[in-house]
Amino acid sequence: MPREGLLGIDALTRDEIQAILDRARDFQPKPNESFGRFEILKGRTVVNLFFETSTRTRTSFEIAAKRLGADAVSITAQASSVTKGESLVDTLNTLAAMRPDAIVMRHSASGAPHFLQRYLATPIVNAGDGTHEHPTQALLDARTILDRGARLEGLRVAIIGDIAHSRVARSNVYLLSKYGAEIVLCGPASLLPKELAKIAPGVTLTTNMDEAIRNADVIMMLRVQLERQHEAAFPASEYFSFYGLRLEHLRLAKPDVIVMHPGPINRGREISSEVADSQRSVILNQVENGISVRMAVLESVLAGKRAGGKE
Ligand code: CP
Repeated sequence: MPREGLLGIDALTRDEIQAILDRARDFQPKPNESFGRFEILKGRTVVNLFFETSTRTRTSFEIAAKRLGADAVSITAQASSVTKGESLVDTLNTLAAMRPDAIVMRHSASGAPHFLQRYLATPIVNAGDGTHEHPTQALLDARTILDRGARLEGLRVAIIGDIAHSRVARSNVYLLSKYGAEIVLCGPASLLPKELAKIAPGVTLTTNMDEAIRNADVIMMLRVQLERQHEAAFPASEYFSFYGLRLEHLRLAKPDVIVMHPGPINRGREISSEVADSQRSVILNQVENGISVRMAVLESVLAGKRAGGKE
């Protein structure tokens, strides 16, 4: 019988999300201190299995598991027997036979962790599946917004860039919508599927960047995912002139607007260095919150409980 992991934000209730965000705050370090060490997951093992590249997610899941006292093992597809032709199901069954307590998984195919969880007793935590969901990114984004003293309810959030290929956009739409935020998705028409306006309440679409940013409380920039595009890409300079975030854009937003980006950032393509390094940027706060949020998620999954206290 499969055990419950964390596959997406869409399936979570607002209470479950809130419980993770509240617990993550307990794990945040005090200024100038390191993350605390706990024995909450002592004796447990977490396997990180990444079939796509990652800097932030893989490292922070590994640190999060270790800070909770668990053993963490990281495997990349390039260093696994996938390169010898082993199927995804066989790879997962092989790892599950070693009795880890959870598998954190990133894969280029949308739905891959959902499919595998149907057959696997080990809980799977989705670390990004294709263009579908990246649940822990949306959670750490929400934690970062809340840390700035804002409420999620009624916020105007502009998500700008390659919306079509963005699992970060989808998970954020699901999460922010559950809190009644106003979400504006913005990008070139070819990267802005109309169907996304229907996936959750409160979503509008525009191809006009000024319109998206006007009165925004939060601007979330997205990378152009060249690796997922089959059409000819826009030249970087042309893309930047229409959809690159520059200092002058910030004047259109609320005075205390924050600028977010899940990373990796491409300076001069979707964001200028002046904005990325400005006081309004919380990009490195997002990275830092990746650890506390993933600690909360791993605790919730491995302690045999879902957030909200359900057994
Ligand atoms: N935000 C994010 O998922 O970054 P990585 O690809 O480096 O993990």
